[in-house]
Amino acid sequence: MPLKIPTIIGHRGARNYAPENTLESIHTAADMGCKWVELDVKLTKDMVPIIMHDDDLDRTTNGHGPVAEITYADLCNLEAGSWFSESFSGIKIPTLEEAIEVILARDLGVNLEIKPCPGREKDTAEAMLDQLSQYWDDRDRLLISSFSHVSLETAAEMAGDWYRGLLLEPEPMPNWAELADYLEVTTINIDGNEATREFIEEILDTERQILAYTINDPQTALRLRQWGVDAMFTDDPDAINDGLFKPH
Ligand code: G3P
Ligand code: MG
Repeated sequence: MPLKIPTIIGHRGARNYAPENTLESIHTAADMGCKWVELDVKLTKDMVPIIMHDDDLDRTTNGHGPVAEITYADLCNLEAGSWFSESFSGIKIPTLEEAIEVILARDLGVNLEIKPCPGREKDTAEAMLDQLSQYWDDRDRLLISSFSHVSLETAAEMAGDWYRGLLLEPEPMPNWAELADYLEVTTINIDGNEATREFIEEILDTERQILAYTINDPQTALRLRQWGVDAMFTDDPDAINDGLFKPH
């Protein structure tokens, strides 16, 4: 069964308009009309699943050093908005649980990307799925993806019914199709800015859906859609929506 997914997915919420991977970013994406958002999940030192992209705190918070070395209690003292703009100063890094509350309240679908810090591939998937299984029951509005095969393998073992997507680097490994079979993924998530038409056709031959990251240029979005890409992650939902759906 294919996953019913909208063409436009807000990347890290609506990354060009609010600090990425925050509750405010999810709300902004919903306000802009997104039906789905993509969020990155990793763990604090004491195994609390949080929404965060980088392995280090420095770029998106006022903290320093590895995320894997900070406890949840200490993380709560950090601030994750003013690096983006003063108007967002004081906002926090959300837990997975807080993010899911907003997803449910705004009636959104979500692609949770398991983004483990090095060495925590299995732990991150386990902690995320342990929690998620307590408060998520809509299989049609969830996609679990990862670049990590170990994380996807864990997801398959723990929640085999939930849709999974294999994320491929710009230079995909040669055995990606075998891996996709083994992991029983429904979607292949590719770098849409680097992908060739031939590669997209190769994926289409495997009868899997294709999602493309991270598409902020309307012309690229149009081209990918013509080539058969099902959905795109974007930092700029307005630009891609106009490019794809407004008459030219
Ligand atoms: O899941 C799509 C995209 O988010 C993958 O790359 O680095 O932005 O998490 P990244
Ligand atoms: Mg991501």
